[in-house]
Amino acid sequence: MKLSTEIEKYIHAHIDEEPEILQELKRQAHLTVIHPRMVSGHLQGRILKTFMRMIRPRHVLEIGTYLGYSALCIAEGIPENATIDTIEINDELEHKIQHFFSKSAHAHKIQLHIGNAIDIITNIPYDFDLVFIDGNKRHYIDYYNCVFDKIPCGGFIIADNTLWDGHVIEEESITTNAQTKGIVDFNEYISHDPRVEKVILPIRDGLSIIEKIKNS
Ligand SMILES: C[S@@+](CC[C@H](N)C(=O)[O-])C[C@H]1O[C@@H](n2cnc3c(N)ncnc32)[C@H](O)[C@@H]1O
Repeated sequence: MKLSTEIEKYIHAHIDEEPEILQELKRQAHLTVIHPRMVSGHLQGRILKTFMRMIRPRHVLEIGTYLGYSALCIAEGIPENATIDTIEINDELEHKIQHFFSKSAHAHKIQLHIGNAIDIITNIPYDFDLVFIDGNKRHYIDYYNCVFDKIPCGGFIIADNTLWDGHVIEEESITTNAQTKGIVDFNEYISHDPRVEKVILPIRDGLSIIEKIKNS
């Protein structure tokens, strides 16, 4: 949720610095692409990295690469022999994404796929200990169902933007905005799914942490 500028500055001054390559990516996002706000950003990026250090997943999947900010944070945090597959539907971004990945010391852990996540996921021949869902808000339930059987019990799904700037509790937004409706439907679906344990962290735009505890 929105923090005051002063608190945000305080947090940024007292956590690990944002690596130079990510600062550059953010600058480029503001200069050259249409929705720079989609970039995870300093605080969420460091949180994602920390989660990777805590969970130590072997294979991570990301749905929605954009310019690669969150993929780079995840790659930074996972063990040396671990991998992240990240999927982006917009092929116009490929060149920019590859540019940033190639500058990272963790590039060898990252595999970029261009295309629709729903088509690509089924062709990846291994399971995932952790999936970061950050694609089209209208399709979160589809992504969730698509990855569920590819995650072992004890594996995690992290879903971004699940408070959608507070719109999830605004009746008008739910009825008129397809993205708000997508997120609200997803939150309802997860809250009634007995196969998972879940919590929503009010960080930035809402981050759901979902642990798979049983297959059915
Ligand atoms: C919020 S941005 C991702 C931001 C990125 N994860 C980060 O934190 O830096 C969402 C991205 O998902 C992509 N996207 C939307 N639908 C998708 C799909 N079905 N498959 C793969 N990518 C998709 C969009 O093109 C957009 O670049």
